[in-house]
Amino acid sequence: MEFSTIEIQKNLFYVGVNDRHTALFENMWPLEHGISYNSYLLTGEKNILIDPVHSASFDLYLRKICSVIGEGVIDYLIINHMEPDHSSSISLLLNKFPQMKIVGNSKTNEFIKGFYKLDLGENFICVNEAEILNLGGNEFQFFKTPMAHWPESMVTYHAASKTLFSQDLYGGFGTIDGGIFDDEVDSSERDFERMRYFTNVVGKFAPQILRAMAKLENLEIRTICPVHGIVWRTHPEKIVELYSDLANFKVKQGAVIVYGSMYGNTEKMADYMANTLSKCGVKNIKMFDVSKTHASHIFTHIWINKGLLIGSASYNNSLFPPMDEILHLLEIHKIKNHALGIFGSYAWSGGAVKKLMNLTQNSEFKFVSEPVEIFCSPSYEDLQKCKILAQNLASEILKD
Ligand code: FEO
Repeated sequence: MEFSTIEIQKNLFYVGVNDRHTALFENMWPLEHGISYNSYLLTGEKNILIDPVHSASFDLYLRKICSVIGEGVIDYLIINHMEPDHSSSISLLLNKFPQMKIVGNSKTNEFIKGFYKLDLGENFICVNEAEILNLGGNEFQFFKTPMAHWPESMVTYHAASKTLFSQDLYGGFGTIDGGIFDDEVDSSERDFERMRYFTNVVGKFAPQILRAMAKLENLEIRTICPVHGIVWRTHPEKIVELYSDLANFKVKQGAVIVYGSMYGNTEKMADYMANTLSKCGVKNIKMFDVSKTHASHIFTHIWINKGLLIGSASYNNSLFPPMDEILHLLEIHKIKNHALGIFGSYAWSGGAVKKLMNLTQNSEFKFVSEPVEIFCSPSYEDLQKCKILAQNLASEILKD
């Protein structure tokens, strides 16, 4: 079977694949809308692959490559990022094209040896920062972007076509359904999946991502080819702006209320505070029962909204267990420009609010006022305290 291939520009083809089977990216993050692993093939005097795909899709990948080069061979593989969602097909590619040389940086080579026990010797071409390399008449320039996403991450710039092969940078969750270019689809439809990818997978490295973006600022970029998601050829500035807003913690005047409740008493507090926020003029309010929605979704909403109310019932003298993951995400990410209120309930000796109070030490949230902790179910007096907490949060949200 021949596979239709998509020409991005003259001699540059999209040969990536969709993954609608994997349930959890990195075996952690739900893929309700799947994911694409993008690969690009530049043909000419030499055939050059840029970033391979997950080995699970190798058969389809190879067919796509062969649809372009026929009986030809791949001469070079440029690998910008070694996380195995991309690099796991290196050995399979080398089996098929044993003369293929791999281009990367010194850390790339360490990971090739580490993950795949391959010593490429002279078949590994090691590039340095900003180095320009001519491969069969095509000039590429390489820029290291450490920790965007891994230490070896780099991007490749093809000046002749003003194309940036950006690896994970500017990527997102979600398969490519039909059109691969930003002008062929309603690109905003996948924005939340891009944000969910950013906040959960690469967001911990927001400062390094900003450094990488600053480094690339002076390049004239007409097309952005990431390794996940669509190719940006008409409005590349849209994805650059989205990444910039997220990495700079640009927040909306909104509130997220996330709660864990066994018998609805903590939920009553959450509902009461949602109503109070609304009465104070906060229009964008998102509520999540932590037992119902995966933490990766909740965390993205928290990242993009200024206010957070987090509440938990106590369970065995500690936090309600489904709260653990979201609390962990909040503690390790140090998100900025946010305001925080804490609430909870207990029937024995408490514990949940105490755990949540760790956020006042282990995060950069502005803590708006003392937590509200209730015994068993909220009394009238308890609800008055909830009202004050929500009013204080609303003032913070609406103050700019
Ligand atoms: Fe798509 Fe960091 O790998």
